Amino acid sequence: MSAATSSPTPGLTLTRPDDWHLHLRDSAALAAVIGHTARQFARAIVMPNLKPPITTTALARAYRERILAARPAGSDFEPLMTLYLTDNTSADEIHRAREAGVVAVKYYPAGATTNSDAGVTDLAKTHKVLEAMQREGLPLLVHGEVTDAEVDLFDREAVFIDRQLIPLRRDLPELKIVFEHITTREGAQYVLAADARIAATVTPQHLLYNRNAIFTGGLRPHFYCLPVLKAEVHRQALVTAATSGSPKFFLGTDSAPHAVHLKEHASGHAGCYTAFSALELYAEAFEAAGALDKLEGFASFHGADFYGLPRNTGTVSLRREAWTLPESLPFGDAALKPLRAGETLAWRLLD
Ligand code: DOR
Ligand code: ZN
Repeated sequence: MSAATSSPTPGLTLTRPDDWHLHLRDSAALAAVIGHTARQFARAIVMPNLKPPITTTALARAYRERILAARPAGSDFEPLMTLYLTDNTSADEIHRAREAGVVAVKYYPAGATTNSDAGVTDLAKTHKVLEAMQREGLPLLVHGEVTDAEVDLFDREAVFIDRQLIPLRRDLPELKIVFEHITTREGAQYVLAADARIAATVTPQHLLYNRNAIFTGGLRPHFYCLPVLKAEVHRQALVTAATSGSPKFFLGTDSAPHAVHLKEHASGHAGCYTAFSALELYAEAFEAAGALDKLEGFASFHGADFYGLPRNTGTVSLRREAWTLPESLPFGDAALKPLRAGETLAWRLLD
C-alpha cells in the first residue's frame, strides 16, 4: 500500500484509480468530457445508455473505437465496455460479449432514468440471459430503483431490494452483481451483509451531500441525479460503508454530463458532472470521515479485484491546496457545469 496517511497531510499518493461507473456519451459530448476522466483514471466502465443504446457486442466494439479515438494524444486510458440489457437480449449475445471483452451488462428498469426506455419491462423476461451471464461469469450492473409510480421517489431503492434484488439473488445465487450508485442505508447494509458475489459503487455526491443540497436557497438542478440524494442518515451510512475498508464498496462516479440548458430547465435532466474533479471530491469526503487511509482501497483496488482485472501500476498524487472550479466547461455547442462550479475545493490532483 502506498503512502495514504490521515489528515492533516500535505499530500496523498494512490495507486492509479479506476472509475467503475461512468457516462461518456458520444460525438461532440464524448470529445468534450473524455479528457477529464482520462486525466483522473486509468480505466472506466462505460455505461451503454446512448441513443440508441449499446445493445449488442458489435455496437459496443464500435463505441469502444470511438472512445479510443477521442482520447487526448498520448493517453493510455482504457474504456471497459458494457451491454444494455433489454427484454430481447439473447443468451448468444452474452457469449459474444464475453469473447469480445465486454466486462458487464447493465440492467435499467424501463423508465427508471435517462435513456432507459429500451430497458427491461420485467426481469422474468431476461431469465435465460441472466443464466447465461451466471455461466459466463459476466456481472450484472443494476440501476436499483423500482419504477412503480405508487412508490415514493425516496423509497424506490429500498423497495427494489425487497421486490427485485432478493428474489433475483435467490434464483441465481452465483450471478455477480454490482448494485450501482447506492444511495441508502438499506442498500449499504444489504450489500455488506450479503456474500462476496455482490458489491456496490458509491458516487462522490452521495458521500458529500444529502437531499437538502437540491433545495438550498432555491432549486439547484446540478445536485439532481438518479437515484436522487437522500436524507442525512443515508449519507452517513454510505460514508461508513465506503470508508470501512470493505472490498464490497468501490468508486463509481456516475458522472453524467448534460448541457447546462437541459439541467436548468422546467424538467431538468438527471445527472451530476463530477469527472472533472472526481478524486478531489472523494478525497474531501474521506478526509471529512477521518479515513484518507481507506481511499486507495476504494478507488484503486476493490473494483479491479471484484471484476477479476489486474490492479493498475503507477500512481496519482493529490495535494491539499485550495483551487476554484471553473463556472462552466465547453460541451460541443453548449456548456457543461461541473458539480461545485465556481466553488473552492480543498484537494487538487497533480498533473
Ligand atoms: O442521474 C443519472 N444520470 N442517473 C442515471 O441513472 C443516468 C444518468 C445519465 O445518463 O444522465
Ligand atoms: Zn449511471
